[in-house]
Amino acid sequence: MAEALRVLSVFEEHSPISFDITEIPCGGQHYLETGEEWPAGSFEHCRDNSDAILLGAIGWPGARLPNGDMAGGQTILGLRSGLNLFANVRPVKLYPGVQHKVHGVHKQVWVPELVDMVMVRENTEGLYHALLRRMEQRALGQKDEPIVIDEFPGLEGEVAWDPRPISRIGSERVIKFAFDLAQHRQRKSDSPQSVTCVDKSNVTRGCQLFRKIFREIASENTEIETKEAYIDAFTMWLVRNPEDLDVVVLPNMFGDIATDLASVLQGGMGMAASANLGPKHMLFEPVHGSAPKYAGKNVVNPVAMLQSVQLMFEALAYRAHDEDLDVCADILQMAIQEHFEENGCVTYDLGGDASTSDVGEAIAERCERMLREQFATA
Ligand code: IPM
Ligand code: MN
Repeated sequence: MAEALRVLSVFEEHSPISFDITEIPCGGQHYLETGEEWPAGSFEHCRDNSDAILLGAIGWPGARLPNGDMAGGQTILGLRSGLNLFANVRPVKLYPGVQHKVHGVHKQVWVPELVDMVMVRENTEGLYHALLRRMEQRALGQKDEPIVIDEFPGLEGEVAWDPRPISRIGSERVIKFAFDLAQHRQRKSDSPQSVTCVDKSNVTRGCQLFRKIFREIASENTEIETKEAYIDAFTMWLVRNPEDLDVVVLPNMFGDIATDLASVLQGGMGMAASANLGPKHMLFEPVHGSAPKYAGKNVVNPVAMLQSVQLMFEALAYRAHDEDLDVCADILQMAIQEHFEENGCVTYDLGGDASTSDVGEAIAERCERMLREQFATA
């Protein structure tokens, strides 16, 4: 987050854009220190006063709420559910110059031109539904009203469960989003785009509804090619033939799992960024967690976070029809890309020994150079 703030300040100083930033402490570590997941009123502030939310990682070992849920979950899951951030958009793009770590060795395994897809994870229901609902209730200060199912015929003894409801409304909106995104990519790139539906509809009813709705929406988007896959086989195709994938739409938990796997194609979790988008609100965050082992050591890769800021610029520019912000989004994109193309310094996960702030500084400096050129006054 420190590197994100550094880059934001460079844009504020050298371009016409500016931000009104509120910093909110949150997460499991904060909970252990203060007894609260974030200050009272934080949810309302995000809901009522924010155009965009930028989130760091919230997990911390041993930080659990009295009911056993993860502390800090109110921030990430409460916001996803409470602000209806139904599309979790996770681009998977490999930049030239980025190495893959496989068998403990860094080398380029996948080919940059062949890895360029966007995973769209359903973000408000599915296997997360009960937890999302509890977290939303907490964030709104409402009473926890647990869903009660007290018997699973045929099972004896202690049973723990997570139902996985998939609704028509929840599926329609995220699948429509995926097709709109494919249309947008097709217009922008002039290369034909496909949407792949990933589910387990050979086995589960929720997925059967998801796939049925996928086919309905596909029939309204005949200029977009469609593909269908079961999640188990998909994981194999993802690593073998990533070139076959453009936009991929998945129910919540499958999207969670597949995007961690997909991050390997782009250089690892340190490279994976995301946007959580809803009708009114937006939240941006790296896909990775808090990596407690490395916390505070200034060694982790800041690119997932900086790329999340880039997604934030893009989305804000799009929603506000702001041309300056659009230019800034392009500049940040180019700065990140050229940093790798020109063998800029990298952190341990990519085979280098640079620190978090070394990488953040190098990318911020690139942004500054480009911004000076772009917005130079006579
Ligand atoms: C993610 C994370 C979260 C999730 C956790 C921290 C709740 O793994 O954003 O992918 O499972 O959605
Ligand atoms: Mn995850």
